Amino acid sequence: AKLIVNASSGRPIPETLFGIFFEEINHAGAGGIWAELVSNRGFEAGGQNTPSNIAPWSIIGDQSSLTVSTDRSSCFERNKVALRMHVLCDSEGSNICPAGGVGIYNPGFWGMNIEQGKIYKVVLYVRSLGSINVSVSLTSSDGLQILATANIVDSDVSNWTKTEVLLEAKGTNPNSRLQLTTSRKGVIWFDQVSAMPLDTYKGHGFQKELIEMLEDIKPQFIRFPGGCFVEGEWLRNAFRWKESIGPWEERPGHFGDVWMYWTDDGLGYFEFLQLSEDLGARPIWVFNNGISHRDEVDTTTVSPFVQEALDGLEFARGASDSKWGSVRAAMGHPEPFDLKYVAVGNEDCWKKNYRGNYLKFYDAIKSAYPDIKIISNCDGSSHSLDHPADYYDFHIYTSASHLFSMTHQFDHTSRSGPKAFVSEYAVTGKDAGTGSLLAALAEAGFLIGLEKNSDIVEMASYAPLFVNDNDRRWNPDAIVFNSSMHYGTPSYWVQKFFRESSGATLLDAKLQTNSSSLVASAITWTNSVDGETYLKIKIVNVGNRHVSLKVSVDGLGLNSQLSGSTKTVLTSSNVMDENSFTDPNKVVPDLSLLENADKDMNIIIAPYSLTSLD
Ligand code: AHR
Repeated sequence: AKLIVNASSGRPIPETLFGIFFEEINHAGAGGIWAELVSNRGFEAGGQNTPSNIAPWSIIGDQSSLTVSTDRSSCFERNKVALRMHVLCDSEGSNICPAGGVGIYNPGFWGMNIEQGKIYKVVLYVRSLGSINVSVSLTSSDGLQILATANIVDSDVSNWTKTEVLLEAKGTNPNSRLQLTTSRKGVIWFDQVSAMPLDTYKGHGFQKELIEMLEDIKPQFIRFPGGCFVEGEWLRNAFRWKESIGPWEERPGHFGDVWMYWTDDGLGYFEFLQLSEDLGARPIWVFNNGISHRDEVDTTTVSPFVQEALDGLEFARGASDSKWGSVRAAMGHPEPFDLKYVAVGNEDCWKKNYRGNYLKFYDAIKSAYPDIKIISNCDGSSHSLDHPADYYDFHIYTSASHLFSMTHQFDHTSRSGPKAFVSEYAVTGKDAGTGSLLAALAEAGFLIGLEKNSDIVEMASYAPLFVNDNDRRWNPDAIVFNSSMHYGTPSYWVQKFFRESSGATLLDAKLQTNSSSLVASAITWTNSVDGETYLKIKIVNVGNRHVSLKVSVDGLGLNSQLSGSTKTVLTSSNVMDENSFTDPNKVVPDLSLLENADKDMNIIIAPYSLTSLD
């Protein structure tokens, strides 16, 4: 096979091409990138009615020493449920409390990862008719190993009182819990109990290691907060941005009925905008358009939803003295966020009211914010849209052979009209398992097709991005984690091969081969650190044989330097190989010096591989 690259001419690839899609699925946010360690911190997860289910909180002590219940006495209007703890034992007298006291504990999201030397901030609201002496501790899952502890001693908490303690861990345990215990008789109410590491990504509450995985792939945009999460199974359970802003204590939280779990919504609309800014990625806000999986608002009554979206835009972009902009400013961000893209719903094109509702949103947004780009759910790749849009969503989950063949999907798409946003793609099913090399290679082939068609495809993002291994609602995913460990699946590593593509120059690269298992592309890109321009050639081989590839690069400038060129290969001994917590680096890119780098060179391409020549 032969690959002829012309380095002297090319066309620009959009700056926006490769980004990420974050959805609150698989506990990706709550118990994932959001660093809050307490699950169900306001005791609301069982609903607003009492008695409420306080899980995963559990009781320390037995019926003779305490009773625990819930009531609606919280000081927070939107989340009235509070926990009431009636302590029957004492440190002296006839009913002595067990050693260590009685109380409640929260195991977080399948165990809290507490690390020696790190500092954790615990905030809680407390009320009692008498004086209190409560120990706040981080302990092992059986409570026996105390990793950090502090006492709250207060003689007057007759009104709800916010209390804050900093705990420095003396040991490490990835399966820890937070305990609130006492040996003093009386009634104590708790509400809004939070525990967070002090050290979070850019100090904004995100789990550092997981976000650094995103930083490494240089996403140009973040589509958020879902997916189906935005729609809800029923509208009453859809994500509503207004319920997710303001002080965290006052957020009601909600039960996401598509992925079937409660979120306290500490990770809300503001935090998504902040994360986009911190990653230097353009925010793409997907909002609910009055349509869920099972119910729809009629177009004649959709205007409150339209107003909700407009308010959301004002929150993100309005002046700091505007109604909603002032709420953003009060949250610590007086400057507007750079929100320029919105998607009207998710996968709703086929729903009865989609077009009607969409047009209401489109007209209102374009008239208030003419620069905002609007994304329709209707696929415009095979026929023209019957409504105005700047972009159309394209989603594809399929087999490896099909996705690989879709490298040509956009070759014949009309070049006029709205641009394509491939906002969800992945190989799924038995070809993918929980993240195989095969799936990743097919995705790489598809992405090479997107690069080549980037005159019409302006954005693309893999889905889903994260999975907490304890709650796999969807397979595969790009990044797998539990309380203390994480790794990238081969699909994650493919993303890294494409991180220089956005804003690069696509070169003319002709592949001469009779094999249908090979695809290739070539780009030049400018490194902002050293200002130099680099050539990058990517080759995907989904065949089971080595390929001897002659690579000729024409049109290299006189000052071109070939020494120091590298070859990076993603492959493994078995195409179904996956990474795991026990073997996180089984399928990862392998970097070596390209010894024979020349403008004419022979490269041996491994079977089942993605190769990059840089
Ligand atoms: O990525 C998982 C789900 O797939 C998304 O929520 C939805 O948009 C699609 O059906």
